[in-house]
Amino acid sequence: MYRICGKKRLSGSIRVQGSKNAALPMLAASLLCKGCVVLHNCPKILDVYAMLSILKHLGCYVKWEDNTVVICTDGLFSCKVPKKYAGAMRSSVMLLGPLLGRVGCADLAWPGGCMIGARPVDIHQMALKQMGVRFESSKNCIFAACRGLYGAVVRLPFPSVGATENVIMAAVLAEGTTVLKNAAREPEIITLCKFLRAMGARISGEGTETIYIEGVKSLKEAEYAIPSDRIVMGTYLMAVLGTGGEVFLEGDCAGCLAAPLLLARKTGARIQERKQGLKVFMEEPSHVPIQAVTAPYPGFPTDLQSPLLALMAVSGHICTIKETIFESRFATAGELKKMGADIRIEGQKACVYGKQTLEGADVSASDLRGGAALILAGLFAEGVTTVHNASHIRRGYEHIETDLRMLGADIDAVGSH
Ligand code: UD1
Repeated sequence: MYRICGKKRLSGSIRVQGSKNAALPMLAASLLCKGCVVLHNCPKILDVYAMLSILKHLGCYVKWEDNTVVICTDGLFSCKVPKKYAGAMRSSVMLLGPLLGRVGCADLAWPGGCMIGARPVDIHQMALKQMGVRFESSKNCIFAACRGLYGAVVRLPFPSVGATENVIMAAVLAEGTTVLKNAAREPEIITLCKFLRAMGARISGEGTETIYIEGVKSLKEAEYAIPSDRIVMGTYLMAVLGTGGEVFLEGDCAGCLAAPLLLARKTGARIQERKQGLKVFMEEPSHVPIQAVTAPYPGFPTDLQSPLLALMAVSGHICTIKETIFESRFATAGELKKMGADIRIEGQKACVYGKQTLEGADVSASDLRGGAALILAGLFAEGVTTVHNASHIRRGYEHIETDLRMLGADIDAVGSH
């Protein structure tokens, strides 16, 4: 668990970790190359460990050196991911495309991950079926097989990040060209495409609604540096807005935070976007009304909705946030209420009657970003806050307590989480 003593102004400089949502599909994509890939700046987080356990279970060799991970896939002998591994993480579904491309089958126990909505995989299945994949899914597993993958014109009914990544990874070794329409435009998709191109894939259009993938016979070994995590940078940005202070967040992802930065400026923050990172100056803790709507990139990221909810809780004004991506992502509101927050949920909308401050309390994380939001609430609150179920937070934050302590926060990780 984490123990936080609130009301400290943040100041100083920290380096933002590598991106979880870029690392996970890249680790899965390593299966597409018969040989070794080297990924630098890989975050040491539970989701990455879970993905690496799966790769090892399938026969891959994995080696860490600091934050560099080497994955050699010559020994791949299975396409079956049992519950023990898949249940730990939603992103196991990310293995569908690479396994189909490499060995023509994937047998995945139903994926786990954050309880933030139903999270079906119908869009992944619909898209891959058009490329020659047959599915036999049951209550417990998704089984997919193909006698070869074929390029197709695929239009997604919604720009799902995971489905976009799966189609791209399946298409790179398919016969012919795939045209993916209504694709997600998240920066992590651009990173995945750059990495696949470094392996010899032929892809263009990433970052737009239409992506073209021309299948090649095989991919070659590659080395790539994972960019900084825009959601972690955004979490720390929200922290400074609520505590006041002056911080430098070092990382190459500031350019991917346009919507959160626009919001931050409206709260009174002075921000300089630099090539090496983000300089944030917030004279006093934010006390303005805030309105936000989550949306696919470049909209306000759903992954920052919970941290924003914590900020709204101490805004001193009526704020609203509409969640349009995940249907059950307001679970954190219940825990924030234990700290004195006044939040009323109506369907997909949260109305927050912001207080001047919160009171420290015993609260419990039930998902990754919600857990981070509770830590922020602890920073904004009077007295001591204890955040239980910290393993949810460790799924995505490499060393949140060290980072925040370096910025002057009074926070400790206590016990075995
Ligand atoms: C990814 C991110 C996650 C982020 C999310 C939205 C990773 C590892 N995770 O998750 O942090 O919050 O994008 O930006 O990159 N959906 C369906 N059917 C499908 C697929 C998705 O209905 O087959 C729905 C989901 O239930 C959800 C919405 O579409 O309501 C968005 O999901 P998607 O974009 O696929 O998110 P993920 O890839 O799971």
